[in-house]
Amino acid sequence: MLQDRFGRRIDYVRLSVTDRCDLRCNYCIPKGFKGFEEPSHWLTFDEIERVIGAFARLGTRRVRLTGGEPLLRRGVTELAARLSALPGLDDLSLSTNATQLARHAQALKAAGVSRLNVSLDSLRRDCMTEVTGRDSLPQILDGLMAAKAAGLAPIKINMVAMQGVNEHDIEAMVGFCIEHGFILRLIEAMPMGDTGRNAQYLDVQPVLARLRDTFGLTPQTATLGGGPARYWATADGRFTLGVISPISQHFCATCNRVRLSVDGTLYMCLGQEESVALRPLLRAGISDTELENVIRDAIELKPERHEFREQPGKVVRIMAKTGG
Ligand code: GTP
Ligand code: 5AD
Ligand code: SF4
Repeated sequence: MLQDRFGRRIDYVRLSVTDRCDLRCNYCIPKGFKGFEEPSHWLTFDEIERVIGAFARLGTRRVRLTGGEPLLRRGVTELAARLSALPGLDDLSLSTNATQLARHAQALKAAGVSRLNVSLDSLRRDCMTEVTGRDSLPQILDGLMAAKAAGLAPIKINMVAMQGVNEHDIEAMVGFCIEHGFILRLIEAMPMGDTGRNAQYLDVQPVLARLRDTFGLTPQTATLGGGPARYWATADGRFTLGVISPISQHFCATCNRVRLSVDGTLYMCLGQEESVALRPLLRAGISDTELENVIRDAIELKPERHEFREQPGKVVRIMAKTGG
């Protein structure tokens, strides 16, 4: 079992399988960004399986495939099947923008992906074009409906709430989620590299207060995943809202996760720079036991919390590099 200096148990790895994406969400990848990792630096599936296998032996139960856009990595469903077969892992999930989901949904389900989180910031086509950099909404909705039809459940909708962009789209998104049985999560934009700062920050607490009143939401104690969201739901259970509020009310005291980037760097915190480069060790023939020791030592570096609020310019790497 992995435990950090602050007594937090680490049992969740977020695995970025690519830093590339077919969209350019303005809070995630800067326009014209060219600094993507070169393919020779990408961990191979064998290398990923070794690292995740070591984590699993050290007590990791949950793995989330993320990116960039994970469905752009060729063979990702094969990787999913290999990971879900690892002893000890009982929660394999995926965060996606859904543009490629229609043709992958069934294979993902067959590969053991149990849960899906989909980015969708608005149901207005022009708003999505503005946020993602292209006319993406029809493709995303197709992907979502294919995932629902394939029986992937629960599906969570990740909506980054932005002042002056989609703040008036929230009620429509609630209606959409009730209609389709999706869980809605409102997310505050975090400053990463040159992004996130530009997205007009919206404090989600007043939004939560408004939705609680309108829909009669009460706090939920049941965990609906491994992440930082706090949940509220209607008494009849037809609607569940998750709130991810890194800026207005951070959740670092209950952090249970680390991140492995596409180039094999283990990042201890989304909002800090502490990291260990695993790729050179893997390519120099490190043994399984040594790898486990390196991971144990890395966990000692995990900082207490992010400082997005105090030092918004501190993290220079973009979100797609670290893995959302
Ligand atoms: P589940 O709870 O397992 O469904 O997943 P999740 O919410 O952890 O994953 P997802 O990829 O959907 O992330 C949702 C949002 O939470 C994204 O904006 C992430 O950047 C953010 N997030 C996830 N983990 C952390 C974290 O450790 N710190 C911070 N600050 N944000 C996080
Ligand atoms: N702040 C908050 N969330 C972000 N995401 C991407 N960039 C940011 C940011 N700067 C979210 C996406 C996706 C999830 C994996 O991360 O909306 O749903
Ligand atoms: Fe791509 Fe997701 Fe980043 Fe948008 S948030 S640019 S969909 S990786």
